[in-house]
Amino acid sequence: MRAPVITVDGPTASGKGTVAQRVAHALGWHYLDSGALYRIAALQALRRAVPLDDGGALAGLAASLAPLFRDGRILLEGEDITDAIRAEAVGEAASRIAVLPELRTALVALQRAARRAPGLVADGRDMGTVIFPDAVLKVFLTASAESRAARRHKQLIEKGFSANVAGLLRDLQARDARDTQRASAPLVAAEGALVLDSTGLTVEQTVQAVIEAYRRRAGD
Ligand code: CDP
Repeated sequence: MRAPVITVDGPTASGKGTVAQRVAHALGWHYLDSGALYRIAALQALRRAVPLDDGGALAGLAASLAPLFRDGRILLEGEDITDAIRAEAVGEAASRIAVLPELRTALVALQRAARRAPGLVADGRDMGTVIFPDAVLKVFLTASAESRAARRHKQLIEKGFSANVAGLLRDLQARDARDTQRASAPLVAAEGALVLDSTGLTVEQTVQAVIEAYRRRAGD
């Protein structure tokens, strides 16, 4: 039997990463941050001056990526790029290249390779719809745009980046539009997904809701 997967998809800054990581920790499962792969590809593209609309070149670059995820850090060719990929400019570039089908295809194998026993919690935009359609539980995590902008602001300030809420809200709405309107793997709740609005929930309450839903499904 293949290792079970829980997918957590949702818009930018919805808290997917935090929730997925905590669910993985609580269950003793592996965790896949698929957005990090898009960000790593974007960082490399920016560094190598690959045009952000050149699908073929970006797919070639993505297919050769061999990032190492170790103790919460991300290493690429020996360099620790954990913080570098969190810059807003990299997130913006990631969102732009994520519309290209060639690039998305080039990242599929890397994502599926993360599926290992005893299980995997994967977060992103298309984990339940495209990458792991046989997931035991699919979660679609949302929150209001304003609360997502406020969360992203807090996150960036804590990481030492400068940021302003109004600008972040505008960027986030543009990113939502790109994510939901792109032709290739658009952001949409998977069929049968548990839709959770975390606007009024704490992280802990959200994590509990996911774990309870998993136990119900696994017990079916
Ligand atoms: O911080 P944010 O949630 O915006 O970004 P992320 O999850 O780190 O992902 C970076 C970008 O990659 C997003 O803007 C998405 O457009 C894209 N992405 C995607 O298209 N598919 C995924 N499975 C994960 C991320």
